Amino acid sequence: MPATVLIGAQWGDEGKGKIIDYLAAGAEVVVRFQGGNNAGHTIVTKDGTFKFHLLPSGIVYPGKAVVIGNGVVIDPKVLLSEIDSLEARGFPTDGLRISDRANVIMGYHCMLDGAEERHRGGKKVGTTGRGIGPAYQDKVARSGVRIAHIVDRELLRARLEAVLPSKERALRSLGDDTRLDVNSLVEEYGRYGDALKRYVTDTSVLVNGALDRGAQVLMEGAQGTMLDVDHGTYPFTTSSNCVSGAACAGAGIGPKRILKIIGVVKAYTTRVGEGPLPTEQKGDLGRKMLERGGEYGTTTGRARRCGWLDIVVVRHACRLNGLDALALTKADVLGGMDEVQVCRAYMLDGKEIANVPSTVEELERCEPVYDTLESWPGLKADDAKGGYGTLPRALKDYVRYIEKGARVKIEIVSIGPERWATVER
Ligand code: GDP
Ligand code: IMO
Ligand code: MG
Repeated sequence: MPATVLIGAQWGDEGKGKIIDYLAAGAEVVVRFQGGNNAGHTIVTKDGTFKFHLLPSGIVYPGKAVVIGNGVVIDPKVLLSEIDSLEARGFPTDGLRISDRANVIMGYHCMLDGAEERHRGGKKVGTTGRGIGPAYQDKVARSGVRIAHIVDRELLRARLEAVLPSKERALRSLGDDTRLDVNSLVEEYGRYGDALKRYVTDTSVLVNGALDRGAQVLMEGAQGTMLDVDHGTYPFTTSSNCVSGAACAGAGIGPKRILKIIGVVKAYTTRVGEGPLPTEQKGDLGRKMLERGGEYGTTTGRARRCGWLDIVVVRHACRLNGLDALALTKADVLGGMDEVQVCRAYMLDGKEIANVPSTVEELERCEPVYDTLESWPGLKADDAKGGYGTLPRALKDYVRYIEKGARVKIEIVSIGPERWATVER
């Protein structure tokens, strides 16, 4: 069976975890392929609420293989604490497999993340502070430490001896005089390696083997298209490619393995951190969305900036990801509003434009052109029981409006955080 890729079509936090959890019921393998513990994916099942940063969202199902692919940057300390807390809740992690080629987020990457942000002054990105950017910089600069290194102390020592001097120099240039001691880092990261060793393997072999056998493989994207380092609001992006194409490089599979690509779209728009957000509502409306949607970051707890749905952005995501279908989430949050607005185009310097401009300077000057739609009554999770046909008419009109603007079908509508608050079309 071919793989299905699921990605975020906005600025992250679209509800990817919830939709992956819903779809994982029918999959044998769930794979993360990029990002790191900057991600925070929430799932709500009968067993409670789970927030995952590195573990793929399929982990709560017994008997599934869940894979952290080579394209992910892994903070082993965070991963181990996630594993421990899940096991303490009675969920085994035997199905977890970690790529031996994945890069490691070291403590100095987190220090560098903070120092780089301080040096950006008024132009900070508002990163999650988890060392993501510096870890990807090292990967691309060929100065990274990989999982294969931390499971072998000799390899780890040799690697650290090669890279630490340049890391100390980098810290010093940013005003941080911390000395990086090879022995203590070998000791600390060697211990993490010991604890993770039983999960480590060549995950490309595993995933391709599963595909060869006909297993259903689900690929779980992190962040979102507008945070993609190439296609997002650069430089206010993350440091990885978040589009569907990254699934191949980040999991070690060929493009022909992918049959279906699903984009997750929140019924409105949010973003955490700095950078342009054309439809942002800074007043009462934005606050209403924030409160009703519980829009606080899963990783950092920061309040998310909120605004109306932006179809220009959704269309950008449809094109870049080659989307076959959309999952619309948080439709309940807009229920009971006076009206719903959607941005269908931008005005830039007096001209109407239909695509996202390439510079943030231009995007900052874009004025959204809105259509106003009717709102629908409030919804509860139980309203999913009757199926799509029983959803309020105005919500179905909203679904059709988005489909027309995006030219992609909405196959799933989510009306609550719970696994069962989900309607298939
Ligand atoms: P992700 O990063 O894309 O996985 O999304 P997050 O988990 O960071 O943020 C989405 C938030 O919305 C989480 O708190 C989810 O539990 C919640 N959520 C997901 N779908 C729905 C929905 O349809 N309605 C409501 N009200 N909440 C939802
Ligand atoms: P999920 O997978 C929302 C944002 C940060 C910051 C920018 C760069 O839960 O959707 P980084 O730490 O990656 O260098 O920060 O990207 N960001 C996210 N925003 N959801 C996420 O992940 C994010 N991961 C990073 O807030 O603006
Ligand atoms: Mg999130």
